[in-house]
Amino acid sequence: MRHLLDTKTLSREDALRILDVAEDMADAQQREVKKLPALRGKTVVNLFFEDSTRTRISFEAAAKRLSADVINFSAKGSSVSKGESLQDTAQTLQAMGADAVVIRHGASGAPRTLATSGWITGSVLNAGDGTHEHPTQALLDAYSMRKRRYGADSRGRDLEGFRVTVVGDILHSRVARSNVWLLNTLGAEVTLVGPPTLIPQDVTAWPARILFDLDEAIADGPDALMMLRIQLERMNAAYFPNEREYTRTWGLDADRLAALPADSIVMHPGPMNRGLEISADAADSPRSTVLEQVANGVSVRMAALYLLLAGERNEKEDAR
Ligand code: CP
Repeated sequence: MRHLLDTKTLSREDALRILDVAEDMADAQQREVKKLPALRGKTVVNLFFEDSTRTRISFEAAAKRLSADVINFSAKGSSVSKGESLQDTAQTLQAMGADAVVIRHGASGAPRTLATSGWITGSVLNAGDGTHEHPTQALLDAYSMRKRRYGADSRGRDLEGFRVTVVGDILHSRVARSNVWLLNTLGAEVTLVGPPTLIPQDVTAWPARILFDLDEAIADGPDALMMLRIQLERMNAAYFPNEREYTRTWGLDADRLAALPADSIVMHPGPMNRGLEISADAADSPRSTVLEQVANGVSVRMAALYLLLAGERNEKEDAR
């Protein structure tokens, strides 16, 4: 693997390898091995053209825990605001010796452009591009599901038969797209639920079942219910029912939480619109994996950086 651009083309073997190495990384952290020497001398650049809390900070934490040097670049306050192009920005980073570029960009396909352009020689990791993909989010979601299902005995296992229902603003969600492809690769069964205006036209080509009634989806007893953020900043007013109607029809509240099977988990990639797509009862319940997902994100991003930058070196030796 040279780059991590999407989950649509990620093989089952590579996906399981990332999840298994993430387990090794998590084990090392639990043994108080806070810093591994694996990427000493490497430079990781976080190139963020859109806002982020979880992804940017966890990529930074992941790189530092592997002893890499980290450069954080935010488009706000940079020469991008003077009109500098992606090409010139990328070539500037190349001149500074970036071994990996983690990019978040509002344009779908920007990470692939960077990876195939020849502007940089290092690895490219997609940290979210437009409405296209957010592969490390899907990987940390799959890791969190696998841990809840198999506990300490997760290594090498897929999600065959695991039933995941993804709810809400599917239209604008790169998280939904990356999850659909990865969960399908890992053998899970995916259902998408939302208002018809927030379901994309091409969804019939996705390996997922579509429902428009959240209560019907909950009565179906999913193993995981993944609530998506309503992306108000990308919303055309014509698409969206008013907020109160949305919450009543597609929001997860205490009654719907109680209607889920006792062992179902509640997921959200964050940031959450509390009181809109998810109530505080649901977000803070013991069945919520929201903070587990954040913590697991560091291990998964350590694994991705390690596999891209340290190649075939033995990760277990580095974790000792
Ligand atoms: N889930 C996610 O991508 O969160 P951030 O936008 O805070 O990175």
